[in-house]
Amino acid sequence: MDRVALLAHQLRTPLSAINALAQGLIRRADQLSTHDVRAKAEKIWRASLRLDELTETILSYSRATAGGIVLNPSEFNLDELIRRVCREQGGQDPSRAIRLQLRGLPAMVIGDAILLEQALVIVLSNAMKYSPPERLIEITARRRAGMIRIVVKDQGIGILERDLPFIMQPFFRGQNAKKLPGTGLGLSLAWYILKLHGGDLEIESHEGRGTKVTMIVPETNTTGLSYSI
Ligand SMILES: Nc1ncnc2c1ncn2[C@@H]1O[C@H](COP(=O)(O)OP(=O)(O)O)[C@@H](O)[C@H]1O
Ligand SMILES: [Mg+2]
Repeated sequence: MDRVALLAHQLRTPLSAINALAQGLIRRADQLSTHDVRAKAEKIWRASLRLDELTETILSYSRATAGGIVLNPSEFNLDELIRRVCREQGGQDPSRAIRLQLRGLPAMVIGDAILLEQALVIVLSNAMKYSPPERLIEITARRRAGMIRIVVKDQGIGILERDLPFIMQPFFRGQNAKKLPGTGLGLSLAWYILKLHGGDLEIESHEGRGTKVTMIVPETNTTGLSYSI
């Protein structure tokens, strides 16, 4: 499919859901119980979150390709950032078990907290999207030789071996992922963000067993290098 059409299609799906649910609420407001109203409102909320995330990804991607993403580094607490992302992403599916293990992280790192948060949201939301809701997601972070390795491990559908070499290319979607919504832009953006920091993104995966994504973040060394995707 044409890329612009694909993006428009992805935007339309949650928008149609919001439209239909809101119309239902308007038309039947006086017949619905509080419980029903709440259930519909929650669906609207989820669809709007998805729309927001999609828009954010598309905008960031177009900024990245135009060379318009520059690092705005500052000192921040990475431990807190990881906990916040887990809380917020986890809050979208409260029944999901997410195990956090953060060991010996420095009190402060230097980097672009907004971009790093975006990269972690991308990786964690993939783990949630591509694994069944009852399966555990494990997030560990540790410090080694001036680098922090944040690992997000799921027990989901995994990635086909033949797809692995292409997985970080913009618009590429794995063969077994196409039945789920997505643009194929997330990982390329996460990769770009880590490269801008002088870090890296690594993926190991086994089809049908699960995926392990490692974000490598330097504690302080932010390079001024530019990459294009
Ligand atoms: N945790 C994961 N488990 C299985 N497949 C994944 C995972 N993360 C990424 N992928 C694969 O990598 C592809 C690219 O990911 P991404 O760029 O985030 O795009 P999207 O999620 O929009 O498809 C996905 O389509 C999917 O095939
Ligand atoms: Mg994704």
